[in-house]
Amino acid sequence: MSPSSFAPVVTAHAASTPVEPLAVVVERRVAAAMGGASPLLRRSNRADFQANGVLPLAKAERRQPAALAAEIAARIPVDDVVLVCRPSGPGFLNITVSDGALLRNLAARAADARLGVAPKSAPGVTVIDYSSPNIAKEMHVGHIRSTVIGDALARVLAFTGETVVRRNHLGDWGTSFGMLIQQLAETTGLAGDMQVPELSDVYQQARARFDADPDFAERARLRVVALQSGDTETVAAWQRLVAASRRYFARVYAELGVLLEDADALGESHYNPMLAQVCADLERAGIAVPSDGALCVFPSDGADGPDGSHGPDGAGGAAGPEGLGSAPLIVRKGDGGYGYAATDLAAVRDRVDGLGATRLLYLVDARQARHFAQVFDTARRAGWLPPEVTASHLAFGTILGPDGRPFKTRSGDTVRLQDLIDQAVAAARTVVAEKNPDLAPEELEARSRQVGIGALKYADLSNNRVKDYVFDPARMVSLTGDTATYLQYAHARMRSVLRKAGVTGVTAVAGVPAAGASVALEPAERALGLLLDEFGAAVDAVAESCEPHRLCSYLSALASAFSTFWEQCPVLKAEDGAVRDTRLLLCALSARTLAQGMDLLGIEAPERL
Ligand code: ARG
Repeated sequence: MSPSSFAPVVTAHAASTPVEPLAVVVERRVAAAMGGASPLLRRSNRADFQANGVLPLAKAERRQPAALAAEIAARIPVDDVVLVCRPSGPGFLNITVSDGALLRNLAARAADARLGVAPKSAPGVTVIDYSSPNIAKEMHVGHIRSTVIGDALARVLAFTGETVVRRNHLGDWGTSFGMLIQQLAETTGLAGDMQVPELSDVYQQARARFDADPDFAERARLRVVALQSGDTETVAAWQRLVAASRRYFARVYAELGVLLEDADALGESHYNPMLAQVCADLERAGIAVPSDGALCVFPSDGADGPDGSHGPDGAGGAAGPEGLGSAPLIVRKGDGGYGYAATDLAAVRDRVDGLGATRLLYLVDARQARHFAQVFDTARRAGWLPPEVTASHLAFGTILGPDGRPFKTRSGDTVRLQDLIDQAVAAARTVVAEKNPDLAPEELEARSRQVGIGALKYADLSNNRVKDYVFDPARMVSLTGDTATYLQYAHARMRSVLRKAGVTGVTAVAGVPAAGASVALEPAERALGLLLDEFGAAVDAVAESCEPHRLCSYLSALASAFSTFWEQCPVLKAEDGAVRDTRLLLCALSARTLAQGMDLLGIEAPERL
């Protein structure tokens, strides 16, 4: 094969062709030799794979494990896929696949737009409730995790073939808007220009006045009544507040590069017309009972107790230490008003009946664990959440400041989301400028944004979802650590090789030996190739566990396997044309796999860093 045979085969992707991961092929063969028992196959650094399933099988069959392992190994046909299968240690099997099988697998992935990853066979409908800020207020540090993790999960699930409905459950209803509108009426007037973040300040002033001035508090309460009873002027002011907030959220989401669109926003107010029915139905079914003038749902017997045990809804999420607790869920308050809980119950009904959801996910602060446990329990009892529909509150840890305590400004205020974005982008600017001293200002700015925002997201996603982490801008843009910047750098390097080789497209199918042809891969090539084969498994692991850090770990391992390959295996300078083609194939597939994986996390993979 001549080196030039590579470039012309850059073709458009054919229709998607799933590629069976080598691990699956090997697993099936070993299982057959084990009479259907599970091989418990793992990747291994002694061979390519190690099967650990012989030990339990030997135990069950009262056999001597090493002898059984030897017997099974002898039964596994050695061919162009399985090159060697050897018993080892007390009863393991070490399996090595052939270089040819690995290369054909990689080439098949490279020829497919989905990198060979098959979509799920029976996809469901997942509704993801994420970001969900409150209107008229500025977004703050507390919104990052919900927004970033929810967005990554929305992308990953959509990639697996799931129908994903994003729901931005905006806090656009409640008594506090009476206070805000009254303050506006008495200061700038209701016709004035409304903008977030300025409105955030008005909100603070209104709250302070509400607490200090009983006359104002009374006028604010009347304003709530006016809003709820549809007073034209008040409703119009509220609508303008909502519109201004939505414009502001759209700007933040665009800056962060998250999928949320205005159409995904469905405020709490949307459910108002359904709340009376929610209460009536619960009361008729005997699930909600009047108590001190309010309508309440008391925790069901045998459900999660205050000991923190999780019900079915705890699976996959942290239900929090409280479980259902013993306090009731208040669906209608003593004054006749409906609250947050009734709204969430109406939303469950709407999502299951209206959207046909098979899975409900909520990316909300851990402090709401009890709220969700009670909402899910109530909805189950009412039959609104049938057993085949899962509901999970995916709680997350807290972002900590440099002092290791929940992040606050020096004066003790909540840190604005915009400040955190700006800090990450500033840190990124230093790194980008250092690497490229002659960059034009606009280009510097554009790249710093890609790097900074990628870093902010990766720092959040790569930490175990339920753990706290420290916000550290300098560390998150480090070129060497477990960072988005490291991934972006690895990707840029891959792209640079491909550019130099004249490979402009995104797919590369040259360098593929015919079945049975002799090829010899270097250890670093095999290690990289076997990791590329695991991409689908890494994506599936996130879809199942709702833990994006698993994909981060995979991509970080991929980037570092590439770096070893890069040090040990010359690509453009490879003497042999076939070797060069194989290495270019590895570069092209690595670049695409890395870029696709980063895209699933919502992180950009620029051509250059
Ligand atoms: N707006 C709420 C808050 O700021 C979060 C809403 C979460 N979603 C939900 N369906 N309750 O606390």
